[in-house]
Amino acid sequence: MVQISEAEYRVLRAIQSRGATAIESELSVEGLSDREIASAISWLEVKGLLDVERREIKTYALSSEGKRYLREGLPELVLYRKLKERGEMTMDEIRDLMPDTYRIALAQLAKFGITPKEGKLIYRNSGIEAAIEERQRFLQSMDPKNTAMIDHFRHRSGVIDEKIRTERIVRLNDSAYEAIAEFGGEGLIGSLDPSIIASGEWKTKNFRKYDLNSPSSVIRSSLKHPMTYLIEEIREIFLNMGFTEMGGHYIESTLWDMDSLFIPQDHPARDMQDTFYVEADSFDIDHPEISKKIRKIHEKGFDGYSGWGYRWSDAEARKLVLRTHTTVSTARYLYENNEPPQAIFSVEKVFRHESVDWKHLAEFYQIEGAVYSKDVSVSTLKWILRDFYAKLGFNDIKLIPSYYPYTEPSLDVVVRVNGKEVELGGSGLFRPEVLKILGLKAPVMAWGMGLERLAMMYYGLTDVRDLYNTDFEFLSSFRFNISRNGRNNYGKA
Ligand code: PHE
Repeated sequence: MVQISEAEYRVLRAIQSRGATAIESELSVEGLSDREIASAISWLEVKGLLDVERREIKTYALSSEGKRYLREGLPELVLYRKLKERGEMTMDEIRDLMPDTYRIALAQLAKFGITPKEGKLIYRNSGIEAAIEERQRFLQSMDPKNTAMIDHFRHRSGVIDEKIRTERIVRLNDSAYEAIAEFGGEGLIGSLDPSIIASGEWKTKNFRKYDLNSPSSVIRSSLKHPMTYLIEEIREIFLNMGFTEMGGHYIESTLWDMDSLFIPQDHPARDMQDTFYVEADSFDIDHPEISKKIRKIHEKGFDGYSGWGYRWSDAEARKLVLRTHTTVSTARYLYENNEPPQAIFSVEKVFRHESVDWKHLAEFYQIEGAVYSKDVSVSTLKWILRDFYAKLGFNDIKLIPSYYPYTEPSLDVVVRVNGKEVELGGSGLFRPEVLKILGLKAPVMAWGMGLERLAMMYYGLTDVRDLYNTDFEFLSSFRFNISRNGRNNYGKA
């Protein structure tokens, strides 16, 4: 049985009360606008409850000239009245009276037998006034049933405009009567509102059923952005391994972003080419007591570590930057929580003055993490990196020796993409100088990996910029599917 809505039911009833057949434009249903009636009729036709016949209906409206005649009078009426007043008029007088309409006026009066003789028009009480006045009245009413007048004006150019509209003539069929009966005198409840629940009405009334088979437009459910999805996967991996998520700040002092990690003040990465500096008049460095330690370690080192051997500048350390890496969050976190063991991570944004290409963005996410414990070693670092990537489905990463001012040894994670080796990120064990600055008493293994490059491989893309493509079709081509092992796989459909 077809399901109908309340509005459709009422339209059916209205047609029924008109003797089962109705013209759409004549149908009125209390509480429904013409648009709602029209839409209900369309649905009822689709549902097979109405037989609909379409008829072309001509409608008429005044043209701009017609509107002028309505205001000023039809030319023949204007002329006839003047003539009646004066008895007779010369052609010159007529032209002066109505320079742009006198021809029309003369032509129309001629049809009533009033024609100029010897250059003059003579008034005759011929009873034509009523006929001309009827024309004038028609302009007022535009009564569509006055076919004689419509005919007259259709043959006069430019007074009325004809429009063709399709009128629907609707007729109830047998299914319609069944639907009316089924909907019932009381009506089915089509939409639930709090009063139906509060009054207990829902217990006794019947609800309209949804027709799950009816064709409908495609409704898109909301989807997670592919980046959001992957970030959540990664967070879950670390949280399941017992890591604590740490937060951070987009804007950092270079003291924390670089100096605390023993990055020398003349390091090329500090160059304007790589780092976004933030203009600021003054700000308070948090934990200012650390700068004394930083100065000492940078300038002279300690116990057999020579330091950088330059004069450390406090002003340089006060510069503000958009954080260049999230290792700054690790430094802060361990400084504030220096009791081992600690296992921390974050998936957050960093900023670098990069020219954007297929594998570079100026604003990107890093998967940062560190373990601070007496059990930390290069092999535990290698194990955790391999394990992390394996959990995302990458069993084939390469770890190669690298260099960072704050780790020793340092390892880079590399994978092959598009036949080229792509660096996914860096890692290593914090140098003794860093441990000393941060006041740590056990080794730290740390890593910072690019998320977008990983995402590019995860989703089988060849360009990191695609991840931030805002094209809706493109974004909705990423689909969830629940695989047999029960894990959500999110990938390109
Ligand atoms: N911070 C480094 C980068 O941004 C990555 C890294 C993190 C290296 C931790 C070693 C240890 O590339």
